[in-house]
Amino acid sequence: MKVLHIDASPRTVRSVTRKLSAGFIQNLRLKVPGLQVTHRDVGHHPPPFISDAWVGAAFAPADHDDPSMKGVLHHSDALTAELLSCDTLLIATPMHNFSIPACLKAWIDQVVRTDMTFKLTEEGVEPLVKGKKALVVTSRGGFVAGTDFDFQEPYLRKILGFIGITDITFVHAEGVNSGEKEREAAMTQASAKLIELAKGW
Ligand SMILES: Cc1cc2nc3c(=O)[nH]c(=O)nc-3n(C[C@H](O)[C@H](O)[C@H](O)COP(=O)(O)O)c2cc1C
Repeated sequence: MKVLHIDASPRTVRSVTRKLSAGFIQNLRLKVPGLQVTHRDVGHHPPPFISDAWVGAAFAPADHDDPSMKGVLHHSDALTAELLSCDTLLIATPMHNFSIPACLKAWIDQVVRTDMTFKLTEEGVEPLVKGKKALVVTSRGGFVAGTDFDFQEPYLRKILGFIGITDITFVHAEGVNSGEKEREAAMTQASAKLIELAKGW
C-alpha cells in the first residue's frame, strides 16, 4: 500500500494535524508491514503558485512544442505523479479563515491538471484519478462542522471528487482553541477515531 501524506500546517511541534496524521501513519504501519509513505510537507515547503506560463503550458495541446514552456510544469508533473501513484491520500490540514491554508490550495492547483487528473469531454468533465481512498484530518479552533462557516470539508469533497476521489473520510479535531481541556478532549477523540480507522484501512 502506498500513502501520499500531505501536511499543510505551518506549525511544527504544536500542530494538532501533524500530530494526528503522524499517529495515523504509525498505526497503519502496524497493520500494513512494508507500508510505503511519501511525505509531502506543503506547510513547510509550499508549492509555487501557478503562473501565466504555467497556464499556457498546462492547457497547450499535447503535440505543442514550445521551448519557452519547457520546465514550467516540472513541479506540477512531480506532484501529480505522486498523487497518481498512491493508493491512499492522507491530507492533514488546519482550518485557516474558514477554509484551507494557501499552501494546500497551491498544491491543489498544481495537481488538478487537464488530461492528467481530469479530462474535458463533449459530455462534460471526466475524472481521471481512479481507485483511491482519502483521509482528511483537520483541526479547527472553534466548532464549525456542519455550519455555514465550514468552507473546508465541502470544498475538499468537491475538488477531490472533481478529479475522481470520492471515497473520503474526514476526521475533525474541533474546538482546539477553546481551552486546554477542550483541546485535549478533541485530540483524544480524534486519535481514537484514527486508531479505529487504521485498523480497518
Ligand atoms: C491564520 C489562522 C486562521 C485560522 N482560522 C480559523 C477559522 O477560520 N476557524 C477556526 O475554527 N479556527 C481557525 N484557526 C485555528 C486553527 O484552525 C487551529 O489552531 C488548528 O489547530 C490549526 O491546525 P494546526 O494545529 O495543525 O496548525 C486559525 C488559525 C490560524 C493560525
